[in-house]
Amino acid sequence: MNKRITVSAPGKLMLFGEHAVVYNHPCLVTAVDERMYATVEILEDKNFELHAPDVKVTDYKKPLSELGSGEVPKGAKFVEIAVKNFFEKYSLNTSIRVSTKSDFSSEFGFGSSSASTVCIVKALSELFGLHLGDKELFDISYKTVLDIQGKGSGFDVAAAVYGGVLRFVTGGKEIEPLNIPSLPLIVGYSGVKADTVALMNQVKELSNNNPGMVEEIYQEIEGIVRKARESLGKNDWQTLGGLMNKNQELLVKLGVSIPKIDNMISAALSAGAYGAKLSGAGGGDCIVCLAPEEKQTMVENAIIKEGGTIIHVSTGTRRVRTEK
Ligand code: MEV
Repeated sequence: MNKRITVSAPGKLMLFGEHAVVYNHPCLVTAVDERMYATVEILEDKNFELHAPDVKVTDYKKPLSELGSGEVPKGAKFVEIAVKNFFEKYSLNTSIRVSTKSDFSSEFGFGSSSASTVCIVKALSELFGLHLGDKELFDISYKTVLDIQGKGSGFDVAAAVYGGVLRFVTGGKEIEPLNIPSLPLIVGYSGVKADTVALMNQVKELSNNNPGMVEEIYQEIEGIVRKARESLGKNDWQTLGGLMNKNQELLVKLGVSIPKIDNMISAALSAGAYGAKLSGAGGGDCIVCLAPEEKQTMVENAIIKEGGTIIHVSTGTRRVRTEK
């Protein structure tokens, strides 16, 4: 048996359908080529060790018998609970050291927590000879996210497992890989870190107070997702951009946009983008835009002028994989 393995998984960007996807509507998500890496080594003693300097966890160590209990630092949570869930499910109790490293900042909202969870589950699955299939990897990783966050659709977990562009429904009820080679996305980071769970709670509260209105918004978003899927297949960026604008209007109605995001989006549109929207929970993180090729530099400069940072990503990205 190998005693050491390195696995990587991609980050993600939500294209269409955030928030509605939590309530059983479909969304479209793309994996991005910025990856998370995890190395898992088998040790001789009875400890769990973690070294994750990107999230300020260095040389963290605890007995296996205490996995998931006591003070768990924020940056260690997803990895530790993933190991706990995996060991419980497959009756394992082996000492391991995990080291993680990311191509991207955990501030961007690219799904670093879910990508690291998927890396750990895949690494353990290969290290212990279980060779789990995609849906099994998804299920354990999604359970881990729910154990920690209490809510979430799991679209980010699916992007990390499957890569590429996916049509996804809550909890992995439907995970449909779409054959889209690449998208000419412009990504602007707002510099504001979004609190995904707080935003999901905020939308839930709005829905409790106005159930009819919010369900109508979700239905409209579902219609946009359907049309966007058709346009994606035809590389029809202009139509897709228009659909992004409509999706953004509905996200504004859900109350999850913020002035910084609104300003970045207006600037991108004024500079000639076909469309732009926030990506993810809202409240910060990134915007995604589509623009004609000859306007891309102008759109990027307009976003920068509003205080955004351009993050160059490519899509059509490969799934979770063993590195060596
Ligand atoms: C957050 O990035 C996207 C949400 O739809 C939550 C989720 O799907 O888990 C708001």
